[in-house]
Amino acid sequence: MKLLYQHLLAFLAVVLTSVAIMGVSVIHYTREAAYEQNFIRLEGYANAIGEQGLNNRSHSMVLDGDFLLKMQNVMSGDDVTMRIFNNQNEQIFPVPRTDLRLPSKVFANLKRGESLRIRNDHEKSGAKLSTSKAYTSVLVPWFYKGKLVGAILIGSRVANLEASIVSEKRNLLVALLFSLLVGLILSLVISLYSNQRIKRLSQATQKVAAGNFAIHLEDKGNDEFDELARNFNKMVTALEKSQEEIAAQEKRREQFMADAAHEMRTPLTTINGILEGLQYDVIPDDSKPKSIALMQRETKRLIRLVNENLDYEKIRNNQIMLVKANFNATQVLTDLLTQMKNKAQQMNDKLVLSAPDELPVYADHDRFTQIMVNLVQNALQFTQDGTVTISGRRVEHGTEFSVKDTGIGMSEEQQKYIFERFYKADPSRARSGTGESGLGLAIVLSLVKQHGGQIKVESKPQQGSTFTFTIFDHGYEQYVKANE
Ligand SMILES: Nc1ncnc2c1ncn2[C@@H]1O[C@H](COP(=O)(O)OP(=O)(O)OP(=O)(O)O)[C@@H](O)[C@H]1O
Ligand SMILES: [Mg+2]
Repeated sequence: MKLLYQHLLAFLAVVLTSVAIMGVSVIHYTREAAYEQNFIRLEGYANAIGEQGLNNRSHSMVLDGDFLLKMQNVMSGDDVTMRIFNNQNEQIFPVPRTDLRLPSKVFANLKRGESLRIRNDHEKSGAKLSTSKAYTSVLVPWFYKGKLVGAILIGSRVANLEASIVSEKRNLLVALLFSLLVGLILSLVISLYSNQRIKRLSQATQKVAAGNFAIHLEDKGNDEFDELARNFNKMVTALEKSQEEIAAQEKRREQFMADAAHEMRTPLTTINGILEGLQYDVIPDDSKPKSIALMQRETKRLIRLVNENLDYEKIRNNQIMLVKANFNATQVLTDLLTQMKNKAQQMNDKLVLSAPDELPVYADHDRFTQIMVNLVQNALQFTQDGTVTISGRRVEHGTEFSVKDTGIGMSEEQQKYIFERFYKADPSRARSGTGESGLGLAIVLSLVKQHGGQIKVESKPQQGSTFTFTIFDHGYEQYVKANE
């Protein structure tokens, strides 16, 4: 069912129920009040007649027929009839009849001084007795000096009862029609207003479903619709973000596939060329060992590429477990220096270590070595006839390391991407014997992050580069996380 109809129905139900409850209680009250009034009136008559009768005859209680007739005449204009019984339970008025008596049980009650209210409601008594109008009477005993002298039964139509009920009903009908009209108009306005807001929301939802995220719903902060709009806006922002993230991931994945294919094609082409040469025997015998050595180098390169990729994926997906411990970093750096001596000599570089004898660091020993090897290898690789300085020092809550070279450096634009996989600032640079895959810094970044540390680079073209990273002490990482 449409919201509009639901609102209308609800309003209708509320109006009808309240008018019905009101109507029933008002009519009931009017009816009861009319009866009560009538009883009081009749009792007033009965007592007045009694008093008059008694006063007239002072001590003896003989009700005067003339007096009563006069009374009857006065009251008949008021639609009142009466019958009078003496203390023997015999009717003495309008006509004296000894056979007309009140039921003895009723008379006994009268003797005890109880008056009786008789309600001859035509709704309750059947059609035969119905006077079409409600009829009430009261039976009142008369006492003189504590003795029952007689009783009067005085009755009348309930004055104006029907008339007042009819007018009540009319009033109620008018009230009903009026409230229905007001209710209808109100519900129409409210539901049209709500409908409009719902429509706006549903249109916005459709747009979002169609991929349009440039949508913002108005939020005045007033009611549940505004709350819905606020949540909707939040949802759109979140959706937009995740959509962007998905697109970025897809782009990275495509880039990765392209780069990986490109990286593998070179060694595979070389190997294939040599194999074809061997197949058709076009390689002179004395060149064969060299060719086979080249093929081996290229195969190793491929293996390294695959391994590094796997390693990178593992680090990135938190699949490697770091075994952290406190050790002397200077020891590792000194060993590194010895290992790298040859490469430094090849490039005619000076390799310098600047660190205290004791430099505690809390890290995974092998992974820390891997980080340093990658950075120093890069520094040597991109520095000819210069100096590469490895330094380490204690800082607050951790140990800071840096690898500084005086090599070719990088532009700011290049610095943005060097931590991405397969990125090489200048692919045309001569490859060294091992060949580069562009994975080194991506692995370094992941490892430093895994250690809860940070890495940054400062570099200027033709002046050199400095890579600096910090590794925090045991417990500090958790402390920072807990206080974030
Ligand atoms: N010290 C440096 N001086 C100048 N350029 C650098 C330096 N270190 C890195 N780069 C630039 O960043 C790029 C990415 O470095 P990364 O170590 O990730 O890859 P790679 O050295 O080319 O290959 P891999 O380390 O996987 O063998 C390098 O190709 C180079 O262009
Ligand atoms: Mg490298």
